Amino acid sequence: MVAQVIDGKAFAAKVRAQVADQVAKLKEESGITPGLAVVLVGEDPASQVYVRSKGKQTVEVGMNSYEHKLDAETSEEDLLALIDKLNNDPAVHGILVQLPLPKHLNEDLVINSIDPAKDVDGFHISNVGLLGTGQKSMVPCTPLGCLMMLRDHHGSLSGMDAVVIGRSNIVGKPMAQLLLGDSCTVTIAHSRTKDLPDVVRRADIVVAAVGRPEMVPGDWIKEGATVIDVGINRIERDGKNKLVGDVDYASAAERAGAITPVPGGVGPMTIACLLANTLTACCRANGLPEPEGLTA
Ligand code: GUN
Repeated sequence: MVAQVIDGKAFAAKVRAQVADQVAKLKEESGITPGLAVVLVGEDPASQVYVRSKGKQTVEVGMNSYEHKLDAETSEEDLLALIDKLNNDPAVHGILVQLPLPKHLNEDLVINSIDPAKDVDGFHISNVGLLGTGQKSMVPCTPLGCLMMLRDHHGSLSGMDAVVIGRSNIVGKPMAQLLLGDSCTVTIAHSRTKDLPDVVRRADIVVAAVGRPEMVPGDWIKEGATVIDVGINRIERDGKNKLVGDVDYASAAERAGAITPVPGGVGPMTIACLLANTLTACCRANGLPEPEGLTA
């Protein structure tokens, strides 16, 4: 079988266009412009690239972008004071504190100081609990993007066997909750899982989110399965820098029914879902109906 390639770049462009349409309608009908505040502490080069990209795409869909760049030595007190200000600013509907934070800052404390209704990352403990109990929450962007692609490809996911490889709070655990919410039978596998190849071979859906280059070979993939590769790993091959996923794409594509490439798969969906979450947060804050097709 030769897999259908799930084009995340095109899908993300479609999501952004939907967000832009609904933002335009919101402005016209109620005069409200959704606003996203992004906080970056320090000068981590990768984080700077992400934050720039987030700001640019926020403006492109017609929303207001507020960037707060703080120096690496910023005290926890000052960071918490900024978050408090953003929590109380009615023009700000979404707040994202770019991770990782410098070592002297307590990430859990900082994330949990964000108003859960503005927590567009879905990392606040209240949102984690709401998602885990099947209640309306803010959903982490990367798993939300994966879910949208899976629903688009399959329609219903009900009854499918899904394996999530990786148990991070940002991807693995919320991904498993979302798949469970769509009535999949879900296994969370990780570095201590016994017989990982056999576990993966049973899956109709494989979501790989471990951050280990090409660790899932094609012969672990069940014929016709759908493979969602969340990994973005920089490697050197043949003297060149290359981005690869957690799945060995070439061999997996020979067995899968559908597969996301790296780059151009899950990656572009993350910011698209951040924009969708900001619009959702804005609608909820104003007692308006939620945007269609952009929530879990
Ligand atoms: N750093 C890398 N990915 C993310 C993300 O999705 N959200 C935040 N806040 N920081 C990140």
